[in-house]
Amino acid sequence: MTDLTVLVVGSGGREHALALAIAADPGVAAVHVAPGNPGTWHSWPSHAVDQLDGPAVAALATEIGADLVVIGPEAPLVAGVADSVRAAGIACFGPSAEAAQLEGSKQFAKDVMMAAGVPTAASRFCRTRDEVAKALDEFGPPYVVKQDGLAAGKGVIVTSDRDAALDHAQACGDVVVEEYLDGPEVSLFVITDGAVGLPLQPAQDFKRVGEGDAGPNTGGMGAYTPLPWAPDGLVDAVMERVVAPTLAEMALRGTPFAGLLYVGLALTSRGLRVVEFNARFGDPETQAVLSLLTSPLGQVLHAAATGHLADVGPLAWRDESAVVVVAAAEGYPAAPRTGGAITGPRLYESDDNVHIVHAGTALDGETLVAAGGRVLGVVATGPTLDEARHDAYAALSQLDFPTGFWRTDIAAKAAAGLIPPVTSL
Ligand code: AMP
Ligand code: GLY
Repeated sequence: MTDLTVLVVGSGGREHALALAIAADPGVAAVHVAPGNPGTWHSWPSHAVDQLDGPAVAALATEIGADLVVIGPEAPLVAGVADSVRAAGIACFGPSAEAAQLEGSKQFAKDVMMAAGVPTAASRFCRTRDEVAKALDEFGPPYVVKQDGLAAGKGVIVTSDRDAALDHAQACGDVVVEEYLDGPEVSLFVITDGAVGLPLQPAQDFKRVGEGDAGPNTGGMGAYTPLPWAPDGLVDAVMERVVAPTLAEMALRGTPFAGLLYVGLALTSRGLRVVEFNARFGDPETQAVLSLLTSPLGQVLHAAATGHLADVGPLAWRDESAVVVVAAAEGYPAAPRTGGAITGPRLYESDDNVHIVHAGTALDGETLVAAGGRVLGVVATGPTLDEARHDAYAALSQLDFPTGFWRTDIAAKAAAGLIPPVTSL
């Protein structure tokens, strides 16, 4: 189908990147964003809507004549917004509320993986401090404790401090305690209609707030793609051992997963393991990955949303590298300082191989200000990872954002060839 009108729901960097890639599809006639952010408002018609209100999103989609609704974040998916849109007779890219439990509950995801025979960390579901203490001692340090429900990437603690692990569990309520997984992490995104899975190019995300992977977990401080150190056959192995059995298990349960299956992996010394599933595109990996996609994204997502993914061939990519570096507000993730002004080039217009996606920004009169934890993502592409990195940091250095900060080591090790190649899958 061509001449598509597409409504992107969400307000973050991922949604800005999705809108950019969908708008670049010649089969797309119009892009709308709801509620969006100052970056998307600049480029596309925008609509104030409560993104957690399914009937309101469905009514908006009907009003603008949308052929496809793409739901970016997890919260509306878990709240059933995709179900409301489909009930209104409009194609929607995003899983049902039931299928989104793959992200909405760590314990649900573990059950599915267990039933499907998907390799993942051994784990224990715990409700009380005693249960947590027992599980911590069973697995030993480093300790991994995960809040069961949604936590915007911040519900997980990895620590060798047993008391800190216990305190985190207490603050979270129901938790999953699991064995520690060593080895580099990979994010693999798979577009699926519930039966067929179409993988995107793998990326790596930087979860910790500080240089050298120090400090607490965040939603993600930067990412790059492709992964020069990843073994051949990685994507095929994940499709065969993780994606196919998971899609089959979800279908068997009567809750097929259609949308974006985000497979978070650790390539451990004992082989690949799933760290987590998410039910939507990753942020900020999407900003890097989509900047290299040459396939028509709007049409591909429409095919997935209407059960026709078998008709779509493998996705095509520019043979380059891409890096995104997130500029966050001082104090992120604990207490980001909002209101700081941001000026500089490219805040609204891309410049050859560099563009800026907005995330937690707002307008104070004419001035762009920080309004959330992760504020902007600077995306650069280049013939090599090193060149893409260089251009991303050159663009960041031109920003005037005194209350912001960013990691200076995004993709540094990979660009310098310092990540030992992974050989066993
Ligand atoms: P999650 O929300 O499950 O993705 O966890 C957030 C981050 O915590 C992951 O990206 C990892 O960096 C880290 N993490 C989660 N589970 C484990 C584990 N079992 N072993 C080591 N690190 C983990
Ligand atoms: N970048 C990690 C996530 O989107 O969950």
